[in-house]
Formats: sequence, C-alpha cells, structure tokens
Amino acid sequence: MSDTIKNVAVVGVLSSKGSGNLGTAVVQELTKAGFNVTVLTRKGSPSTLPPGVASREVDYESVDSLTPALQGQHAVVSTIATAAVRGQHPLVDAAVAGKVSRFIPSEFGINSRILGTSAIGKILQGKVQTLDYINQKSKENPSFTWTGISTGLFFDWVSIHGLEHGSLGLDKSTKTATIYDSGSEAVQTSNLGFIGRAIAAILSDPSKTVNRYITIASFNPSQAELLEIVERETGEKWNVNHVTTAEQEKFGLEKLGRGDYSAFSNLLRKRIYEDGAGLAVKGADSANSLLGLEDEEDLEAAVKAWLGG
Ligand SMILES: *[C@@H]1O[C@H](CO)[C@@H](O)[C@H](O)[C@H]1NC(C)=O
Repeated sequence: MSDTIKNVAVVGVLSSKGSGNLGTAVVQELTKAGFNVTVLTRKGSPSTLPPGVASREVDYESVDSLTPALQGQHAVVSTIATAAVRGQHPLVDAAVAGKVSRFIPSEFGINSRILGTSAIGKILQGKVQTLDYINQKSKENPSFTWTGISTGLFFDWVSIHGLEHGSLGLDKSTKTATIYDSGSEAVQTSNLGFIGRAIAAILSDPSKTVNRYITIASFNPSQAELLEIVERETGEKWNVNHVTTAEQEKFGLEKLGRGDYSAFSNLLRKRIYEDGAGLAVKGADSANSLLGLEDEEDLEAAVKAWLGG
C-alpha cells in the first residue's frame, strides 16, 4: 500500500470562535498544495466554504456517522477549539475504522507534552489525554499514525483580536503595551498561513513525522522587541504598563477555583512570558527546517501588517 496522502478531511473550519480561523487557513494552504480537501461540518451549521472545497455533514459524537465520512480519506486534520478537544475520541475511533493513515489532532498552541505541574496544565488536560489516546490507538493499529504540532500563539490572529483574547500585550487603539515581567522572554508564535503550510509539508512527506510531536514557530519575539518595532513604525512612544506573571497566575488560579475558564489567558501569560520560561522554539527545538520551511518569517512585515490593518 502506498503511503501517499491525497484526500484530507479537515475538522473545525466553521466554528465561530478561535481556532475556526485556523481551519480556514489550513483549508486554503492544503488546497493550494494540491490536496483534495473535504470539510466535515456539524449537522445544521451554516456553511460558507471556499469554492471548490467539498463538505460533508457529520455528528461528531457518533462513530457510526463519522466512519463512512472518513472512508477514503488518507488524513484527518482537526482544528477544533480547545474547549471541544476532549470530544475528539469518536473522531479518532472513526479514523481508525475508516483506515485513515495520518491524524493531526488539534494541538496548535503551547507544547502540551511538557506541561509538568504548571497551572495551565489543569486546563489543557483534554489535549494531553486526547493525544495519549491517539498514541494508544496507533500502537494497536500501526497503519494509523499521528503528528502533533505545537505552534505557540497565533501571531496574526492574536494581533487582530488584541488584548481581550490574550496575548501579545499590545493595544494599538490606545498605543499601550502591557509588559509581563521584564518583557525580555522570547515567545513562540506562528502565523495561521505558516501553520497551514507546515501541515501541507507534513502530509506531502508523511514519513518524516510518523508518531512525532513537533514544535514550529514563525518567529519568537519578546514583548520588548515588539514594542521597539511598533514604536519605530508609529514614530511614537507607547504607554507601558508593567504586570507580573506571578500576579497573572494568582488571578488565573482564583478564576479556575470559581470554574471560570477565562483563567486560560492569565495562566497562559504566566506560562509563556515569565522570565526564564525558556519556551522559544529555535535551532534544534524547531522542526521548521525538517518540514522545508524557512527558519523564520519576517517579523517586521507581520507587525507592519497588523499596524496597518
Ligand atoms: C476527493 O475526495 C472525495 C471525498 O473523499 C472523493 O469522493 C473524491 O473521489 C476525491 N477526488 C479525487 C480527484 O481524488
């Protein structure tokens, strides 16, 4: 049997929040790379698909509904939102039953394999357990393989959605930067199109990433570096608020204690911006070159696009 991947099912493209935007970028890049893409959609969800992309309605909770939809598919890419990650088990079972050869689960964030006892690990258990489950299925069925991809923050998405969603600490409407700790920690970030190209590269040469968890980044800017670029580009000093990651962790844990999952943003800041966090993805830690992608995308151009948008 040939290992060539041609038909790819993408999940999570139409979700209204968050990673739904990643799904759209993934469909675009896979289509551009010549894959035959089918988007799985929830029954009754409104469909606004790119032209030329097929779709198929499924019930994500039902292996019986998913299996026929996955028969004939060589790969499944799941981009569903973090909150729904736990619900991927029927999709995994159906992928095994449908003889899918590569499963790419909805990771696409910080590296979930090294969370240890960090507070954010409490929120990301769905990802951890889903990947453990996939790995178990792959051991039982060696022709079913997986690749996990950590991308860090979605740079272009986060910068569009701004502080509210989390994360770069820059608000261009008020020209204010919120700097966590010293602001000098390098932070793993990726643009959505870059993530799409990484997935296309994985599926074009799947033998390189069999049952592997890889980490990639468009670039790893520190907040100080971003502030320097926006000040240079706007020709103005920005207002700067200093905040500690210890305080972010405290807020996050308080929220979590109340069952408020917006704790995620606070705990994420603690995880990635803390001085010495050490989560930048460079050199040997980066799979960019393994996938034939550039070492780094152009940070200045990405910041300029954000300022101009
Ligand atoms: C594209 O994928 C669909 C769904 O799996 C399949 O029915 C169709 O035959 C494929 N087209 C080509 C050209 O392989």
